[in-house]
Amino acid sequence: MAPKLILTGFMASGKSAVGRAVAARLGWRLRDSDAEIVARARKPIPAIFAEDGEAHFRTLEREVIAALAADRARCPQCGNPRPAVISTGGGALADERNYLMLKRIGTIVCLSARPEIIAARVRRAPHKRPKLLEGGKPLDERIAELMEQRRAAYARADFTVDTSDLSVAESAERVLEAFARNGGSGHRCNRCA
Ligand code: S3P
Repeated sequence: MAPKLILTGFMASGKSAVGRAVAARLGWRLRDSDAEIVARARKPIPAIFAEDGEAHFRTLEREVIAALAADRARCPQCGNPRPAVISTGGGALADERNYLMLKRIGTIVCLSARPEIIAARVRRAPHKRPKLLEGGKPLDERIAELMEQRRAAYARADFTVDTSDLSVAESAERVLEAFARNGGSGHRCNRCA
């Protein structure tokens, strides 16, 4: 199996911070699908949603994930597939094609958190996350609704780590334990990452 560690999960479940911590622990590169979408579109995510629509955002997301999944580069020194931590946006796994592409390239770990924890984390800047503004509903209601819609998609991950009561370092530790249980290794030669 290509040694990719994929982090997914609901908005504000900790993917970015935990992704950085896990990548640092492994000494691997971190690829962030949202950051790559923003670079392709040359505008922030709320602007993509507002000006081009969600369907366009999802097309870009699929293209970026396909490109990440197609990365077959090998380390020129040891010959192993280049390892990476891949962090995806909270809606990525809900698309069957994304799920199948990601499943093929590594271990999928879903981060979760209780709805009230998510609400507390996003309350200061909900405008950064257009999916939470849909329908003009109260934040708690919208989070609960979207979580329910995505429950089955997130359940397909190989492992889930609930970050509600964990620090970033503790969450990263759990992710690494799950990865190791799934046969992932922290392998890298000094040129891999
Ligand atoms: C989305 C989550 C966001 C971003 C976009 C859509 C979603 O990423 O991809 O706003 O549908 O859940 P984060 O989960 O990193 O906030």
